[in-house]
Amino acid sequence: MVSVFFVLVTILLSINHSEQLQSSHTQTLLRIQQQLNFPSALSNWNNSTDFCNTDSNSSLTVVCYEDTITQLHIIGEGKTPPLPKNFSIDSFVTTLVKLPSLKVLTLVSLGIWGPLPGKIARLSSLEIVNMSSNHLYGSIPVELSSLLNLQTLILDDNMFSGQVPTVSALTVLSLKNNLFNGSLPNSVSNLENLRIISLSHNKLYGVVPDLSHLRNLQVLELDDNAFGPQFPKLGNKLVTIVLRNNMFRSGIPADVSSYYQLERFDISSNTFVGPFQPALLSLPSIAYLNISRNKLTGMLFGNLSCNSELEVVDLSSNLLTGSLPKCLVSNSIDRTVLYARNCLETTKQNQQPPPSCHTEALAVGILPDRKKKKQVSKVVLALGIVGGTLGGVALVLLILFIVRRGNARSKMKNPPTRLISENAASGYTSKLLSDARYISQTKKFGALGLPTYRSFSLEEIEAATNNFDTASLMGEDSYGEMYRGQLKNGSIVVIRCIKMKKRYSTQNFMHHMELISKLRHRHLVSALGHCFKCSLEDSSVSKIFLVFEYVPNGTLRSWTSDGHTGRSLNWTQRIGAAIGVAKGIQFLHTGIVPGVYSNNIKIEDILLDHNLVAKISSYNLPLLSNIGKVRRGNSSDGSKHSSINKRGKHEDKCDIYDFGVILLEIILGRTIKTTNDAEAFKDLLQTSLGADEDARRSIVDPAIRKACLEQSLKTMTEICVRCMIKEPAERPSIEDVLWNLQFAAQVQDAWRGDSQSSEGSPGSPLGPQRTAFH
Ligand SMILES: *[C@@H]1O[C@H](CO)[C@@H](O)[C@H](O)[C@H]1NC(C)=O
Ligand SMILES: *[C@@H]1O[C@H](CO)[C@@H](O)[C@H](O)[C@H]1NC(C)=O
Ligand SMILES: *[C@@H]1O[C@H](CO)[C@@H](O)[C@H](O)[C@H]1NC(C)=O
Ligand SMILES: *[C@@H]1O[C@H](CO)[C@@H](O)[C@H](O)[C@H]1NC(C)=O
Ligand SMILES: *[C@@H]1O[C@H](CO)[C@@H](O)[C@H](O)[C@H]1NC(C)=O
Ligand SMILES: *[C@@H]1O[C@H](CO)[C@@H](O)[C@H](O)[C@H]1NC(C)=O
Ligand SMILES: *[C@@H]1O[C@H](CO)[C@@H](O)[C@H](O)[C@H]1NC(C)=O
Ligand SMILES: *[C@@H]1O[C@H](CO)[C@@H](O)[C@H](O)[C@H]1NC(C)=O
Repeated sequence: MVSVFFVLVTILLSINHSEQLQSSHTQTLLRIQQQLNFPSALSNWNNSTDFCNTDSNSSLTVVCYEDTITQLHIIGEGKTPPLPKNFSIDSFVTTLVKLPSLKVLTLVSLGIWGPLPGKIARLSSLEIVNMSSNHLYGSIPVELSSLLNLQTLILDDNMFSGQVPTVSALTVLSLKNNLFNGSLPNSVSNLENLRIISLSHNKLYGVVPDLSHLRNLQVLELDDNAFGPQFPKLGNKLVTIVLRNNMFRSGIPADVSSYYQLERFDISSNTFVGPFQPALLSLPSIAYLNISRNKLTGMLFGNLSCNSELEVVDLSSNLLTGSLPKCLVSNSIDRTVLYARNCLETTKQNQQPPPSCHTEALAVGILPDRKKKKQVSKVVLALGIVGGTLGGVALVLLILFIVRRGNARSKMKNPPTRLISENAASGYTSKLLSDARYISQTKKFGALGLPTYRSFSLEEIEAATNNFDTASLMGEDSYGEMYRGQLKNGSIVVIRCIKMKKRYSTQNFMHHMELISKLRHRHLVSALGHCFKCSLEDSSVSKIFLVFEYVPNGTLRSWTSDGHTGRSLNWTQRIGAAIGVAKGIQFLHTGIVPGVYSNNIKIEDILLDHNLVAKISSYNLPLLSNIGKVRRGNSSDGSKHSSINKRGKHEDKCDIYDFGVILLEIILGRTIKTTNDAEAFKDLLQTSLGADEDARRSIVDPAIRKACLEQSLKTMTEICVRCMIKEPAERPSIEDVLWNLQFAAQVQDAWRGDSQSSEGSPGSPLGPQRTAFH
């Protein structure tokens, strides 16, 4: 594009030349010829040459206006070695500035070497400069910013370093293949004429400034740098986006699928996470799409549509599932389609072996395709029978330091009861819910070491709790008591008792039990089964017992300095615990359909098992509490749907905030009791980000103050502060959170060594060990 523009300018302007040159200009040109060591492009120049009236060709053009030179293009051949030692860029530029009317200057492949002198800015009319493929080095002189007419600055293929220059009128800035370093200055956001910015292959890093106000921006090429982690903020007029080979770690923002002019989209070789939007394939202008070598997830369908102009699609090395869109399988030879190393249902192009696919997909979270999700949730809703969304029955599971022991005994004197012979198995094979995703999830979590979810008999429950002995009572809340129990096979469990205030039949609960049975994850305190206790008279359910795994090692808070237990997690273990909690949240949001949001998670609800694996013990457990709701829910599908959608807007971000508060406690080692405390400590932490390292360290939990690495602490602090941003929409996604945590973990030394114990592979022998724990 640039070069087309360039050639055009060259051709247009070279038509008009019939002037007689000032003799001083003749001398200047001959001096240039000599200083450039007589390049072949200038071989015909001598002191009788009529410079303004010679034919121009691809290596030499001189354009005059009246009796001055306005354009000079000299282009050498290929990779030219540096000019000899006696070349002086300083005197060369001194010669150049004797052509004060120059508007366009092209000096390409001439072996020019040295630092660019600031006095080049004396050419105050310069509009277009192309000095590519020379041996220029050092930083760009600040004087350049005084060039108010400079629109195009092209310095590709040199060795410039330092900061990227920003000159206010720029429309084209191309600095490919240099050594520019540091971060991109925020002033780039103000270059409102910018149309093309190409910084490929430099040593730039950090966040890309907000470019969304650059309404003319069409080409953004940032490949081969270390930019990241967020996807740049852009307007929707982009034609080319190349972010290849950087350090982007976020998701692709949804609005990219509205970039109607986008022709080339290359985000390959980063660690982008989250869903790939198949809508990108059908953008009206897209011709080149390369997302290879990322960690993008999502499901493709055979019936997706593609833009007919698509020439290259490279989806390889991601975690995509589903089947390859048929429109890509077309037999056109002009189209390259690569999709190797994904988790697609095809035998072609070497897909991942399923196990690695599953664990990896699990590690970054499977975000279902939206259409798919909607469909399933409709089904779930229809089935919602029974359902009604149980809204806020949060189940407080395990409180380890509980005290309230009460009148458990008296409660046993119930009306006559009997066990409903309930066929658990058939209850859970509802055809509607045997959606593939569900099934694969269940299978996956079978590997967690948990026994299969099942229904328990009342006798089993009674035996496990020693007939609801007060000695096994762990606590009580408005729903009922909680007991510690031991099953026949020796495993310790927690039994949660929920008393019914109204009459329901077991049928009313089947759907909920089914959902509960799916809520199994390494980082959730998971249900092992349930038991209905029914009234003899009318078979209505009088109590539900939910049996959960027992997590022995106390709350996460008890492992920080303010826990007053004398034990403390080291920094690596704290990051590991935070990652666990984040994965648990991610599973609640995306692992089942519909997601479980607004879980109101507190640090007291995070329990650690014997391997210090963090598990969320209290989540927004779907459980029916009001038969009226059920009836209403059954009658009108539409209303239910809309209420779900309304609720869905930012509800995931409540959990992000709560997670931020947990991080705050992990970092500071302080108990946070109120929202005010949380905000005050967040402000403290935020302030510390601007302070020096010592100040930053002085506020963290003394137990970890020495051992945490600066970069790791900083990353954790930043993500914590971002999670707690007031405006829910601005809080990071759970994927973003996870990647930051994982980054902090990687930075922190010794992570690998520790990961064995705190983040073992799925299928680690949790089950047997759990039973051995007393
Ligand atoms: C700079 O000039 C050279 C020689 O004309 C040309 O090949 C190159 O494309 C130009 N650079 C840009 C970015 O237009
Ligand atoms: C540099 O030295 C060469 C001879 O080695 C000479 O021909 C040339 O004119 C000198 N150039 C300058 C700019 O002095
Ligand atoms: C362009 O013209 C110059 C003389 O004006 C000549 O020396 C040079 O070889 C020509 N280059 C090409 C590529 O024709
Ligand atoms: C100058 O160059 C032209 C051709 O490029 C040649 O015809 C002419 O003889 C040269 N004049 C001198 C004085 O060298
Ligand atoms: C330029 O031409 C004049 C004669 O017209 C000659 O005396 C002089 O030496 C030439 N200068 C150069 C640099 O070739
Ligand atoms: C950029 O590179 C230069 C020279 O290598 C170095 O002196 C400078 O500190 C670097 N700047 C940044 C911000 O990394
Ligand atoms: C896509 O990007 C990768 C990595 O940057 C590159 O190796 C691959 O050749 C590209 N694919 C195509 C078809 O251009
Ligand atoms: C594409 O297929 C999926 C499942 O195969 C289906 O749910 C969806 O409705 C289909 N979409 C269209 C536009 O046909």
